[in-house]
Amino acid sequence: MKPYSTYYNGHYRPNYFIDFIFKGTPQFWVNNTLIFSVTPARVAKLQAHILKGKTVIIPFCGSGMDAIYFAKSNMNLILSDSSNDAINLTKKNLSVSIGASTINTIISKLTWEKALLKYNDKFDCVYLDPPWGGPEYANHANFTLDMFEDVDGEILLESFFSVTDNVLLKVPFNFKMYDLKTFGLPFSTYRIFYKHKPLLNLVHFGRFEPGKEINFNK
Ligand SMILES: C[S@@+](CC[C@H](N)C(=O)[O-])C[C@H]1O[C@@H](n2cnc3c(N)ncnc32)[C@H](O)[C@@H]1O
Repeated sequence: MKPYSTYYNGHYRPNYFIDFIFKGTPQFWVNNTLIFSVTPARVAKLQAHILKGKTVIIPFCGSGMDAIYFAKSNMNLILSDSSNDAINLTKKNLSVSIGASTINTIISKLTWEKALLKYNDKFDCVYLDPPWGGPEYANHANFTLDMFEDVDGEILLESFFSVTDNVLLKVPFNFKMYDLKTFGLPFSTYRIFYKHKPLLNLVHFGRFEPGKEINFNK
């Protein structure tokens, strides 16, 4: 576990990209793995604007960047992850950014299946950021629901849709949106660009709006 400033030496990501990720977050802790998948703070803020609810479950909480911004939007949090390290990072980042006492939060080390079983009557919306499987995700012409690492995207979505259709999903820029039509639910897509290059997509089920292209320039 290291403060993100440690990564400024450029060994992991170019400095300008680190700036983009953490801008607006004064202190944040990551590890050598999650530095590659932490949600940029400005994207996490946008997510909290898109997904409205009382209690959000985040079953792949990682280092907790998303959680910080949902908490800042006054949502109660149910956070889980299958990795011990991720749980420790999330606890530390939430206590530094929000102050553990001021938010209504449950944090547990669980697989997503166990988290859903345990908390199925406790949440009204879901944020899903399953692992994309390392940098190879970008090599596919079309990233599909069966390409997440260790997680079947179709089963994951069907399982959470059995509780709520208010679901926000983070997928790669090359994700094949057409596959999502098979669920028969309305959804809006937000295409996120950084310096005019596609970075990722957010998909919000349960509501239809025209969707947007959002360009972060610096
Ligand atoms: C893309 S990262 C989430 C990053 C997070 N949004 C952030 O800002 O740090 C995916 C997370 O899923 C977790 N994970 C992988 N397989 C899992 C499973 N079967 N159940 C629960 N968590 C899992 C990993 O430990 C990792 O922390």
